[in-house]
Amino acid sequence: MAARVLPLAFLCLMQLIASPFLVANADDGTSFDFYYLVLLWPGAYCTQSKCCPPTAGPPANDFSIRGLWPYSTLSGEPVTDCNSNPWSINQISSLRDELNLHWSNLKCPSNDGVGNWKSAWKTYGVCSGLNETQYFSTALQLRAKVDILALLAKKAIEPSLLYVHGVSDIENAIREGIGAAPLIRCSKGPLGLFQLYEVYICVDKDGETIIECPVKQSFTCSEEIFFTPFNLTSINPIDMVVAN
Ligand SMILES: *[C@@H]1O[C@H](CO)[C@@H](O)[C@H](O)[C@H]1NC(C)=O
Ligand SMILES: *[C@@H]1O[C@H](CO)[C@@H](O)[C@H](O)[C@H]1NC(C)=O
Repeated sequence: MAARVLPLAFLCLMQLIASPFLVANADDGTSFDFYYLVLLWPGAYCTQSKCCPPTAGPPANDFSIRGLWPYSTLSGEPVTDCNSNPWSINQISSLRDELNLHWSNLKCPSNDGVGNWKSAWKTYGVCSGLNETQYFSTALQLRAKVDILALLAKKAIEPSLLYVHGVSDIENAIREGIGAAPLIRCSKGPLGLFQLYEVYICVDKDGETIIECPVKQSFTCSEEIFFTPFNLTSINPIDMVVAN
């Protein structure tokens, strides 16, 4: 019994990240137009990839930050790899507990997340024009502000394998809460059916104001999708994916 994983979604993402020829020139760190705040549902991540508890302990049972990406409207691509800017773990020491809870890395083997933050800073953060502390605290504040899990719960959309939910119901629940349409990315989950995987929210350059997305990535979902529970202590990705 082999786990049915979905490498495709990751390949596409890598392609998105690794398109240097489309990346806008952003030497001054300001030539981007808006941010994508990308929030990941760990329950979906752990059904499609093997996941391991971070060394700092389990993350929150909530949407976690995948990234805060400066984006160019013109190129329709993220603005990446700007002027080198030194990375220093000390500059985020005051945010460390929050980052462990809300911007953790579930990759195996278990890790302390530092490599992930460093790469987020070097690839995307330096292009924001913010300093390191500001960049990570902006992402944390935005995540808390949009509180997707609570917005979904308000409409009785909760993690469970007993029900599927209309993608449009999920979109509407979030739109009503934040005042702009989110983009929903799905992945293949239990029984090979689609599940809620990531939510993309567009944010003005000011790092605060939620806006309608000037660039809409298009993702494939079915009309009805799972919102797969996340329980790091009990999930066995292989059992989840091939469950009769
Ligand atoms: C980062 O920016 C904030 C706000 O402008 C400032 O208070 C802080 O001192 C800066 N940090 C560093 C290390 O420059
Ligand atoms: C997660 O699974 C473990 C083991 O099955 C169980 O003891 C625990 O109560 C579960 N936690 C949640 C939040 O469901």
